[in-house]
Amino acid sequence: MKLRTGVAAYGLLLLILSPPAVADDGLDKPFTSSFARLEHAPCTSLFYRNGRLGCGTEDTSLQVGQLKYFDGSLPDIKSPYVAVMEEEMLTVDSINTLLSARGGYLQGILVLNSTSEEDGGQNNQYYSPDSLYPRGYGTPSANLNYGTNAYAWNPKGQGLFDIDMHGIPMAYVIDADVSKSLRKEAQSVSDAPGDTIVAEFNYYMGPDKMTSAKCLAWKDVATNQWNPKCLPIGGTSVWATPGSPPSYGDSENDNNANNRPVVVLAAGMDSTSMFHDISPGANTAASNILTVLMAARLIGKYVNDNTLDSLPNRIVFALFEAEQYGFVGSRSFLRDVAYPGFECKSSLVRAVSRLGEKSDLACINPVRPSMKFTGLGQIKGMLSVDQLGYLLGDGVLYVHADNNNDMYGTFLANVLKSSGTNSFSVASASVNSNNNAYPYPPTPLTSLLHLSEGAVGGAVLTGYDYAFTNKVPYHSHRDSADYFSVNLKSIAAAATIAARSILAAAYDNGSYDYATSANYAKNLIGELNYDDKDLVALSNCLLHNGQCEMIQKYSSVDAANERIRFGRNMGSPNPMPKAANFYAGVYHRYYGQPVVAVGDQLYGAYNGNDYGNKASDAIHILPEALESAIHGLFNDYLGRGSNSNGKFTSCKTVSDCGNVDYCSAEGDRATCTGGGVCVCERASYHVALDEALLPAENKPAGYFVVNENDEGISAMYTEPNWSNDVGVRVYRDAGWLPGFLSLAAGLAVGSASIFGAFVLRIGLKKEKLY
Ligand SMILES: *[C@@H]1O[C@H](CO)[C@@H](O)[C@H](O)[C@H]1NC(C)=O
Ligand SMILES: *[C@@H]1O[C@H](CO)[C@@H](O)[C@H](O)[C@H]1NC(C)=O
Ligand SMILES: *[C@@H]1O[C@H](CO)[C@@H](O)[C@H](O)[C@H]1NC(C)=O
Repeated sequence: MKLRTGVAAYGLLLLILSPPAVADDGLDKPFTSSFARLEHAPCTSLFYRNGRLGCGTEDTSLQVGQLKYFDGSLPDIKSPYVAVMEEEMLTVDSINTLLSARGGYLQGILVLNSTSEEDGGQNNQYYSPDSLYPRGYGTPSANLNYGTNAYAWNPKGQGLFDIDMHGIPMAYVIDADVSKSLRKEAQSVSDAPGDTIVAEFNYYMGPDKMTSAKCLAWKDVATNQWNPKCLPIGGTSVWATPGSPPSYGDSENDNNANNRPVVVLAAGMDSTSMFHDISPGANTAASNILTVLMAARLIGKYVNDNTLDSLPNRIVFALFEAEQYGFVGSRSFLRDVAYPGFECKSSLVRAVSRLGEKSDLACINPVRPSMKFTGLGQIKGMLSVDQLGYLLGDGVLYVHADNNNDMYGTFLANVLKSSGTNSFSVASASVNSNNNAYPYPPTPLTSLLHLSEGAVGGAVLTGYDYAFTNKVPYHSHRDSADYFSVNLKSIAAAATIAARSILAAAYDNGSYDYATSANYAKNLIGELNYDDKDLVALSNCLLHNGQCEMIQKYSSVDAANERIRFGRNMGSPNPMPKAANFYAGVYHRYYGQPVVAVGDQLYGAYNGNDYGNKASDAIHILPEALESAIHGLFNDYLGRGSNSNGKFTSCKTVSDCGNVDYCSAEGDRATCTGGGVCVCERASYHVALDEALLPAENKPAGYFVVNENDEGISAMYTEPNWSNDVGVRVYRDAGWLPGFLSLAAGLAVGSASIFGAFVLRIGLKKEKLY
């Protein structure tokens, strides 16, 4: 894995303690077996359009200091120290206190997993590291809003994401027992020589005053070679449309007759936290993905293609990637579809030269593996869903829509309120409109409103009312099923309501007669049970086991199809970590950046004339396991086509689907999914890359330039890849078994440098280290 990617995880927190110090908690059984499980998660370190955020050491030298407990008041110490704090103390006040008095002494911060110290982890003390105004006022995404951007959706928000902690590295100690030992050491008053525990941070993430543009354009001084020190945050969104596929000018007699207006059911599929390796996103990502996928399942189950094709509007499902980093996925998609629409700088080509017209039309500069999205008609409106895994009260979901200005939003809100289930209803959120600046919670609908300048709107279905819940700290490492129990009844109800509402929206002929439309949909679509087997299996994957059978099955069949189509083996999708992680990660060819193969070169974008000269020339995309599993699930749920007898050809890969006759609509074709049967292709990938950035022409993946038409408003987040041996060590300062210590230190450095330095979504870590 590491050799394939060439980039990798941070090393482990290597804890070197002498046996007597830890004899009571089992960490001394021989030292070599205990250090491997002492993991840490490094703090975020990012660049954006105007600067840097998060932590890192001052320069390439190690920062070492004695452990000192921080309880809100500064430790009384006049020598280098590392502040050790409970996670409940991770507030903007604590950070400001420590930073303002750093005075050359503060070398770093260790944040302890305090689970064992509290009431079963259920207390309400933990703060949210995200802003009070997530993706709004004061954040790099502030210019991407619609209406007011200063509504406090996140009342416990600390704004830690938006602080530049350059010079101070920070790490979270994942293991609760290790945290306990470190707490004890940090609280100890003994400063006797040989009895001091120190932490050592090797965590250089670039110089001060860095920005994304500077970092992407970085040239090595000695060689003057272009050597970018960061990559954009992004990935691959997945969208799907039930019914016959849209036509998009890919065949001779194509008249775009199928090009109907579109109603979109969307959600963000990523989450984040102060420590990217632990971004469990149970409420902020998993619940969204579950709701949208289960809504697709209901549409596929209850509404056949003929019915869907006869409706005045086309339904589109979309799960957008990197939404937390400036609405990247939704803006990429909406800009390409309509605002202002995608412009291909090359001529259109076939995605797989060998297959000619049997493969999609595509673009090689900028790369789009399929132009199918251009067959989508005008966007009529959007229903987005958000955070449905935790409910305040019993049986009530909330709808957010602009009742003053947005006709479509009002229509959709009424549809939602008429589409309840037996035990769940939908109420209007009690957020007040202020001077016509109605606040929308940050979801993909924000992108649609912003890009259409309010001309096209919609509604948001949520589990929260006027503010996010304190029980599940927003965008934190504690947005996890370890800390609260995800409400599958709520998700099943939300999926039912969303499926009915989007079908009602597709049925509407412009009269906005919500009662008739909602009634039509309610009669067709039954309720999803909260113990539905797919809902249960998939929630287990997304909440507890990212390497579950379902994700593996769907993503591996999808990847096998892609290998067959592309004609070469370009590797397997990057797996979801076992502890599911929804950090979007970087945009690179192993994480969804499409590449164009011309002869034996692979380019991130190509402007020459040689594409298509060789049969092997093709566009290749390798999304991550979660994204390809979602792609496969959409196909499985929506791809039953014109098959009415219920008999499906079984398959292992797309090669087994050559003779399928039930995908007969124009432009339709059969594919294989993890469900083991051939279905009609309904899902597509879409790039999720900041709109200001373009892959550099005729360079490999990983090189980006700022678009000359950049409007200057996107967040432009990038993740640094500065040094290749970062990590944290904790050890007893001196005296004890020097020989053994240096051996351990050697091991530490050795393992850390093998692993390189890129902050990715990790868990790979676990595979590699054992
Ligand atoms: C903290 O430790 C507890 C108990 O070991 C564990 O369940 C929890 O997942 C840990 N928290 C994080 C954020 O890793
Ligand atoms: C649109 O639908 C409404 C009922 O929802 C119906 O009364 C009306 O006749 C329809 N209009 C057209 C042009 O089909
Ligand atoms: C990150 O940096 C290391 C060395 O500094 C380099 O080997 C690796 O290829 C870089 N990764 C990416 C994705 O650029």
